[in-house]
Amino acid sequence: MIPVLTIDGPSGVGKGTVANIVAAKLKWHILDSGAIYRAFALAAFKRNIQIENTHQLLELASNLDLKFAQNSANNALGVYLDNQEVSSELRTEKTAELASKFAMIGQLRESLLIRQQDFRQLPGLVADGRDMGTVVFKDAPYKVFLTANAEERAKRRLKQLQQRGIAGNISHTLEDVKKRDERDVSRKHSPLKPSKEALIIDTSDLTVSEVVTKVMALVKV
Ligand code: C5P
Repeated sequence: MIPVLTIDGPSGVGKGTVANIVAAKLKWHILDSGAIYRAFALAAFKRNIQIENTHQLLELASNLDLKFAQNSANNALGVYLDNQEVSSELRTEKTAELASKFAMIGQLRESLLIRQQDFRQLPGLVADGRDMGTVVFKDAPYKVFLTANAEERAKRRLKQLQQRGIAGNISHTLEDVKKRDERDVSRKHSPLKPSKEALIIDTSDLTVSEVVTKVMALVKV
């Protein structure tokens, strides 16, 4: 069986940062499932497909031309939609908000399922998101759920946005983070919640390397 480490948690908790470091240490593949939802939202927005138009949304989900590939200029893993790099467009809070609205649609989640499961390749996969441990990789041998208080997560999210040259302020970021979490936690399909088997780590007072150490201690390879 191909091993998977799932890292779930709310927005701004640092899942992506931890997932990238752990995947590099283990030399495993990585899945940023949020990027799939964000890319889908961006594609729907560009095509002007409204949220009520389930038929067109499902058609788009099955034909979505989405690739993750190394950007030769900066060596980072880029996201390509219709062969155009959209990595920075994906990171805006506007895209995230739209993604969380589309992410409420159960049929849409189902049609994006195989696309995510295809990332499970040898020697292993680190997958981060909201439902990696509860739905997408239910049978994963290693599951982590990261938490942190909303203020801390807003601070981290703001820092991340600023590093990417995106403007923002703490009160708006806090509001966005809370609104998106509320939607992710309370939705009917695949809500954000820890899997029964997940190791829950409150990262509020931990450094990134302390979190990485705890996660690495879980994985036996
Ligand atoms: O993780 P990220 O902030 O990029 O995710 C953007 C949005 O996509 C989340 O707020 C959530 O609504 C949705 N998402 C999801 N399931 C996942 C990953 C992301 O519903 N596995």
